[in-house]
Amino acid sequence: MNVFILGGGGREHTFCWKLGQSPLCTEIFVAPGNAGTQQKATNLPIDPMNFEAVRQAILTHNIGMLVVGPEAPLVAGIHDFIKADKALEGVLVIGPEKLAATLEGSKEFAKEFMQRHQIPTAKYASFTAATLEDGKTFLAAMSAPYVLKADGLAAGKGVLIIEDLSEAQAELESMLVNEKFGTASQTVVIEEFLSGIELSAFVLTDGKAAVNLPMAKDYKRIGEGDTGLNTGGMGAVSPVPFVTPEFEKKIQDRIITPTLEGLQKDKIPFQGFIFIGLIKVGEDPFVIEYNVRMGDPETEVVLPRIESDLMELLLATGKQTLQSQHLSFDEQVATTVMAVSGGYPEAYEKGKEITGLEAIENSLLFHAGTQQEGSRVVTSGGRVLSSTGKGSTMESALAKSYATLSKLDFEGMNYRKDIGFDL
Ligand code: AMP
Ligand code: GLY
Repeated sequence: MNVFILGGGGREHTFCWKLGQSPLCTEIFVAPGNAGTQQKATNLPIDPMNFEAVRQAILTHNIGMLVVGPEAPLVAGIHDFIKADKALEGVLVIGPEKLAATLEGSKEFAKEFMQRHQIPTAKYASFTAATLEDGKTFLAAMSAPYVLKADGLAAGKGVLIIEDLSEAQAELESMLVNEKFGTASQTVVIEEFLSGIELSAFVLTDGKAAVNLPMAKDYKRIGEGDTGLNTGGMGAVSPVPFVTPEFEKKIQDRIITPTLEGLQKDKIPFQGFIFIGLIKVGEDPFVIEYNVRMGDPETEVVLPRIESDLMELLLATGKQTLQSQHLSFDEQVATTVMAVSGGYPEAYEKGKEITGLEAIENSLLFHAGTQQEGSRVVTSGGRVLSSTGKGSTMESALAKSYATLSKLDFEGMNYRKDIGFDL
């Protein structure tokens, strides 16, 4: 079967690498892809949000399965679009329909879902411009720090954590009245601040059965010691050492099972990956957010630990036969370290030549913001390369991640030297 992957980051290159190992996968197409995906697959110059162009490519390349990497096309309803088209009958889509994608597309929807199904999460209230003054009063009754979340998608920037009350009230006004995050902040969720260590759980479901994938922990801040601005993710590790069997059981019983049952009870069909952002407060897990896709760079440590044929699992997901599947994992530790452009996550330059790639052998080096330009590979994004290592310990895995990066260079290249520092 021919597979079509939407997206162009490290996550999509990892999917391309893993699916490419399956005898069930004939040819892979990626849109827009990057210099890494181009080595094994065919890149198509298509914007994943251009559904009509995606449709054409599915027909032209005889695609049997569409794997949607990022959230935006799912939230915009790409699955529904394909399902509604008679000419695309039988095309399997990995990634949920619009209704389920609202779990990521609207924080308020996700909060209401959790409340309805008694899934532990921070206490909250939501406000619009019409209730701005109530929101300010609500903030005044809470204690610092104040957590403000734009309801809609804001490219990972829609969450503000503020120490000072008057600043929080001013930001609330700016979000609601001045549309600081555009229409995404027409509704704002104000949450109780939870203090603890974060981790992520991943579930693949066909809407009836589900399999758990390995958990991971990512490092979101640009600076060492988890300081500075938030990024898309600077590195990740899997498994998460502080997840004891007892804590894992709490995650299963209090969060994963009620989430899957909640989807059934609410009649929300879901075919694809559920990425549950969690925080461990004391000994208890709470949900920070739901995503309806895999994480990036979490995918770069989760997929390398799956021994099973991912194509077989995705086929079963699309055909709703996941119940019959068994997943086997590699017990080894996987780590990934992201090399980013100088200046990222603020303004950065693109088009810098990446040198040393020819010296990389037998390494899991996943491309993110890279582009082939003739014989050269150049940077084309903030996050550029994700270097994954595997080993029997986190230290030996990290040593491999860093050894690969030490052979590579581009002007302004930056990466965190302390991934896993807190574990
Ligand atoms: P999100 O976009 O929902 O993942 O939020 C971004 C980051 O903000 C999370 O990864 C957390 O580090 C932090 N965060 C979100 N909600 C809370 C909360 N209620 N308490 C503490 N930190 C939070
Ligand atoms: N690494 C966080 C995300 O993919 O949302």
